[in-house]
Amino acid sequence: MTLGNPEVARIGIVTVSDRASRGEYEDRGGPALVEYFTEVMNSQWEAVLRVVPDERPLLDDTLVALSGVEQCCLIVTTGGTGPAHRDVTPEATADVCEKMLPGFGELMRKVSLEKVPTAILSRQTAGVRGSTLIINLPGQPKAIRECMDAVMPAVPYCIDLIGGPCIETDPEHCVAFRPARK
Ligand code: MTE
Repeated sequence: MTLGNPEVARIGIVTVSDRASRGEYEDRGGPALVEYFTEVMNSQWEAVLRVVPDERPLLDDTLVALSGVEQCCLIVTTGGTGPAHRDVTPEATADVCEKMLPGFGELMRKVSLEKVPTAILSRQTAGVRGSTLIINLPGQPKAIRECMDAVMPAVPYCIDLIGGPCIETDPEHCVAFRPARK
């Protein structure tokens, strides 16, 4: 079954926060990601938004549903990547992915360390489940842009490789890199 138009890239945006999920705190990460993709995307896309507490089984189920039922080619999570007891986003990502892509976390920490020394506290990672790329981002809204600017050039080609839709970016905001075909 295909959901809607397969040329429209569905992007899952998951805010992982106990307080935001209880409504005690305004979700700023989700809207920051919608704003980011609105600027950067040059092909059709739609957001599938979720706000969930830092609960590993619930987060596993959310990622599985966004990848499966919702047919998202990309899922970005924000929050829950640190060392605190309730931070479990990287574990949930590993639970549901068939392949991990550690280069995403390495690059995001590298660029973030140029901004804040506490970037070493983020265990953010990425991986592939079926035809879905899942990327973890820290919870700070400004970290979202810093990290996405670093990794976004490689995202369209990764989605090509895993059988997702052809994503185009606005070169004013992000120059996507696709290796020349032989
Ligand atoms: N990365 C960037 N670019 N900017 C930041 O402000 N904050 C750090 C780190 N990475 C930060 C960052 C901090 S203070 C923490 S605790 C970790 O991300 C984990 O954040 P999280 O638990 O909200 O995911």
